[in-house]
Amino acid sequence: MRCSSPAFSGAPAVLATPCTGWPGRTWCRRCSTGTSEKSPAFPPSPPTPFPIFPAMIATQVPTTAAEAADFTGMTFPHYKHLTAVPSHLDITPLLVTATVDGVPAGLALGAIPKPGYQAPPTLFSLYTAPAFRHQGVGTRLMEVFHHEVAARGGELIRTIYMTGKDVSAHFERILEKTGWEKPQPRMAAIKADLRQIRAMNPPWLQERRFDASRFSIVPWREITDAQKDALRRSHEADRWIAEDLAPWKHEANYDPVTSCAVLRDGALVSWVINHHLADGTTRFTCSFAHPRLQRYGVVMWLYKEAVDQMEKHNRRFGMWTVPLHHPAMHAFATRWMKPCAVYFRETMGCEKILTSDRIPV
Ligand SMILES: CC(C)(COP(=O)(O)OP(=O)(O)OC[C@H]1O[C@@H](n2cnc3c(N)ncnc32)[C@H](O)[C@@H]1OP(=O)(O)O)[C@@H](O)C(=O)NCCC(=O)NCCS
Repeated sequence: MRCSSPAFSGAPAVLATPCTGWPGRTWCRRCSTGTSEKSPAFPPSPPTPFPIFPAMIATQVPTTAAEAADFTGMTFPHYKHLTAVPSHLDITPLLVTATVDGVPAGLALGAIPKPGYQAPPTLFSLYTAPAFRHQGVGTRLMEVFHHEVAARGGELIRTIYMTGKDVSAHFERILEKTGWEKPQPRMAAIKADLRQIRAMNPPWLQERRFDASRFSIVPWREITDAQKDALRRSHEADRWIAEDLAPWKHEANYDPVTSCAVLRDGALVSWVINHHLADGTTRFTCSFAHPRLQRYGVVMWLYKEAVDQMEKHNRRFGMWTVPLHHPAMHAFATRWMKPCAVYFRETMGCEKILTSDRIPV
């Protein structure tokens, strides 16, 4: 087989390094993202039980619970509720299922916004059961998903996914093959071990010095409605809060143990809103300080407070989601969190324009 890198397309296999463990594939130096020429970008495929011919793959858009039943486990747990057919949600889930010779093999799950919603149709997950992978099921599901969205009037599809898993490279290959735009980084997700952060003794975890006659650190649960209203009014007047970091956008189910705020002369000027995840991790979801206070590191006072509370409550792991369009936060996370990271991943966003795909189905 020939190398599929655009730079080498058509180049004879003699340019490539044979990849042991991945039958039928050869690798050139540019294809391999590993440090060694011998390391392929992907792990070897699991042994394929039998070859799948395109005619063996059948797709369907289930319209009854019985038709969807075998596929509800083929998505992330937090999207499972979207697989209920028919749906009673505010969005209209779109499921495309695949079977191979009648055996459930894969699911593409997305949603079409109801009229009046700004968001475009979204692909939430694409899944092929391990036994059927690398035989075109995922690509077929994606193509049919495009056609189904186009048939419902969609002109654009958006997807967000996380890097760092071997299979994200396979997903990216499907995006590329089926005409999506180049994926763009959106967010860094860092999970770090507090014990390791403590061992580094970073400056932001050392004692804070501030004017206690003007500033106070309070748990978010003690912030009054009047203080929140005053914050909204202040923002309406001066537009000083980054749109995606306004606390009211993240307050649902916040973690009362670690979420906290800074008051200056009684007014809310900084906050860290966190969520306690099911696996025991504390996620630092949203943090912000008034632009005039940012250079004093006010958010770091709150990070320290949150970490102190985590330790009091025997919590060990913290997760930071850092939007890449906030460079200062990203630099902080890279400097202080990444070295202690249990994992460091980025979420990517990608779009597909469908106007030329309007094929009747
Ligand atoms: C990503 C996923 C859906 C791909 O499904 P699939 O049915 O294997 O996809 P395809 O057979 O159509 O393969 C598409 C491309 O991925 C690559 N690929 C897939 N599996 C591979 C494997 N095991 N080894 C190497 N390459 C592989 C190939 O490059 C292939 O492109 P090609 O046909 O041009 O060679 C599947 O791996 C999966 O379900 N992963 C877990 C869920 C997930 O992470 N989904 C993505 C984010 S939501």
